[in-house]
Amino acid sequence: IIAFFSPKPLAGQTVLVTAGPTYEAIDPVRGITNLSSGKMGFAIARAAREAGAQVTLVAGPVSLPTPRGVTRVDVRSAREMLQAVQQQVPAATVFVATAAVADWRPAAPAEQKIKKDGSGQAPALAFTENPDILATVAQSARAASGALFCVGFAAESQDLAANAQAKRVRKQVPLLVGNLGPATFGQDDNALLLVDAQGTQELPRAPKLELARKLIAEIDRRMRTSA
Ligand code: CTP
Ligand code: CA
Repeated sequence: IIAFFSPKPLAGQTVLVTAGPTYEAIDPVRGITNLSSGKMGFAIARAAREAGAQVTLVAGPVSLPTPRGVTRVDVRSAREMLQAVQQQVPAATVFVATAAVADWRPAAPAEQKIKKDGSGQAPALAFTENPDILATVAQSARAASGALFCVGFAAESQDLAANAQAKRVRKQVPLLVGNLGPATFGQDDNALLLVDAQGTQELPRAPKLELARKLIAEIDRRMRTSA
């Protein structure tokens, strides 16, 4: 078998990937989450490893096998994901944020299981905003100094190019990858729109692993030309 990447373009690089949904507790037995499968992020971790990088994958709750040679850190909530990511940032040279991080979490999760009280009234839930992991990392000293190349993802239900470009500028990342969601959630293929300061570039519909390999090649190219 001939390795896909030969020679290894990312040899010497350390790639940090977030993937999957997060889970935010309501009480000890219930929570809110979303339909992200983690497949795109796991494919990117695998492709980065194939390209010769050291890879750490910080994964929310998903049921996917760990790609060969990849170090995996399992987390549940957005805040746990942020903490795990921040531990890895000092060693990372590339950060790819594919996780579908819950934007809000229940403000005051109950310590015991919430019981019906017989009144027929449903409990009210109050929410608080979660930290923005990508924006936090993109604003870190490591990213600002050029030592860490940050890539965001965005699932948009409409106006993909405009929404993705606006999100890239807002998050202050050199590259943002847009896809049309939620249609791609759980699917084995996808189509990507790469958005950077130069404009947009389409990676047409293909299996997620094939797209992941192309994306890794594009990240490598951008890191070489921006260095
Ligand atoms: N992201 C993150 N932490 C969050 C929210 C988002 O790291 N709390 C990352 C995602 O992993 C993704 C990018 O930011 O790489 C864009 O996520 P998205 O949900 O599309 O953006 P939001 O800023 O949350 O905007 P929206 O209101 O459209 O959900
Ligand atoms: Ca969001």
